[in-house]
Amino acid sequence: MADHTARPIAPAKGKLGILCVGLGAVASTFMAGVENVRRGKAKPFGSLTQMGTIRLGKRTDKRVPLIKDFVPLADLKDLVFGAWDPVPDNAYQAALTCGVLDKHEHVEPIADFLKSIAPMPAAFDQYYVKRLHGTNVKRGQNKADLAEQIRADIRSFKQTHGCARMVVVWCASTEVFIVPGAAHQTLAAFEQAMVNNDPSIAPSMLYAYAALMEGVPFANGAPNLTCDFPAIEQLAKDRGVAIGGKDFKTGQTMVKTVLAPMFKARMLGVAGWYSTNILGNRDGEVLDDPESFKTKEESKLGVLDYILQPDLYPELYGQLYHKVRINYYPPRGDNKEGWDNIDIFGWLGYPMQIKVDFLCRDSILAAPLVLDLALFFDLAQRSGMIGIQEWLSFYFKSPQSAPGLYPEHDLFIQQTKMKNTLRYLMGEEQITHLGVEYYTDGEK
Ligand SMILES: NC(=O)c1ccc[n+]([C@@H]2O[C@H](COP(=O)([O-])OP(=O)(O)OC[C@H]3O[C@@H](n4cnc5c(N)ncnc54)[C@H](O)[C@@H]3O)[C@@H](O)[C@H]2O)c1
Repeated sequence: MADHTARPIAPAKGKLGILCVGLGAVASTFMAGVENVRRGKAKPFGSLTQMGTIRLGKRTDKRVPLIKDFVPLADLKDLVFGAWDPVPDNAYQAALTCGVLDKHEHVEPIADFLKSIAPMPAAFDQYYVKRLHGTNVKRGQNKADLAEQIRADIRSFKQTHGCARMVVVWCASTEVFIVPGAAHQTLAAFEQAMVNNDPSIAPSMLYAYAALMEGVPFANGAPNLTCDFPAIEQLAKDRGVAIGGKDFKTGQTMVKTVLAPMFKARMLGVAGWYSTNILGNRDGEVLDDPESFKTKEESKLGVLDYILQPDLYPELYGQLYHKVRINYYPPRGDNKEGWDNIDIFGWLGYPMQIKVDFLCRDSILAAPLVLDLALFFDLAQRSGMIGIQEWLSFYFKSPQSAPGLYPEHDLFIQQTKMKNTLRYLMGEEQITHLGVEYYTDGEK
């Protein structure tokens, strides 16, 4: 039963252009994956928008539609892809180089499609990603000029491909760590800083600015500052556009944000949490640079404090030693291994250990998140939900939230929040899991 009026949502009519900043392992695996699914050659496992359901009403109502049948999402057949990258490889070459997908099964049969996606020249500066050398790079008078060139790219892509709507998703390398400064506080300061080539304005910020100026939602899949500061948040509100980030929550952190709430739920203490990763893809190589690693480290370290609340539970979590390492190890390619050793303690302080060894595939975990984020950001935009999309925290390691509001990291709180937002959008009752009505013989 509906408990309020559904929000007006513009229909998902026409093509949706998805522009990925970066055409590396994640972006090429995402695009190739969607095309394989569209051709009926594979299933979109890992994608909530494609496979997930949502319960509506009471458990006894048995109303459990697919999410994509419940909310008006863009259909996969209406998606069109583009990208920017300083490496000139098209999506076919990128997919082969990254070596995530089986060449014969998932790349060669769609070679024509992948070859048609060539990257536009990137706003790129090696100062922000030390381990990369780009040749497909924009030239301009200053950073403001580069942002204007990105805006022109967005307009031209939209027109050439006849798109009704657009979304931009950052799938590019992790930039060096930047602390928000004066240039990030107001839009006027930010725009002046672009003209002055201020080093605190990283390329990712130029893409975010350009997208917002074009009225296009922007999602940030890496831990860079990018759109997480007051000037860009204000611009998103002024222009009525959806933004969000940061950093796709895929492997080790996804596991962490499931295990940590479990310890807290049972009042088990945590003495130490040591997390290490080995990976050998280009992302691993970029993260081998200490300045890019610092950006990732901050994103990975944040989650435990927020979930475990050592201020509230000093005896359980006040002394927690948390360490995160990422080691570049080429033989593994995209197949990351994430190890966790967790030292916990229980009744009367007796110690125990948990070991997790996640032999994952980085881009296989990330690709469906790009799809879901693009579709949900487009939905948010059509629903008039502007500014930070905190309801999509589910997808991020370091979710953006309103100033003064701490982010929610627990994966299942995030999931509940997301599904309740979908119910809210469609005028359906929120599910609180109270359930007393099942036991009170019809009493209210
Ligand atoms: N795979 C995962 O599980 C996962 C999880 C969380 C975050 N991420 C992040 O997603 C991003 C992409 O990961 P990946 O494995 O595809 O990396 P990748 O190195 O394969 O691809 C990144 C691409 O971005 C390009 N690039 C760098 N700077 C750019 C710029 N200024 N403009 C346009 N393109 C630029 C690079 O040339 C490269 O082709 C990384 O930042 C990574 O940290 C990945």
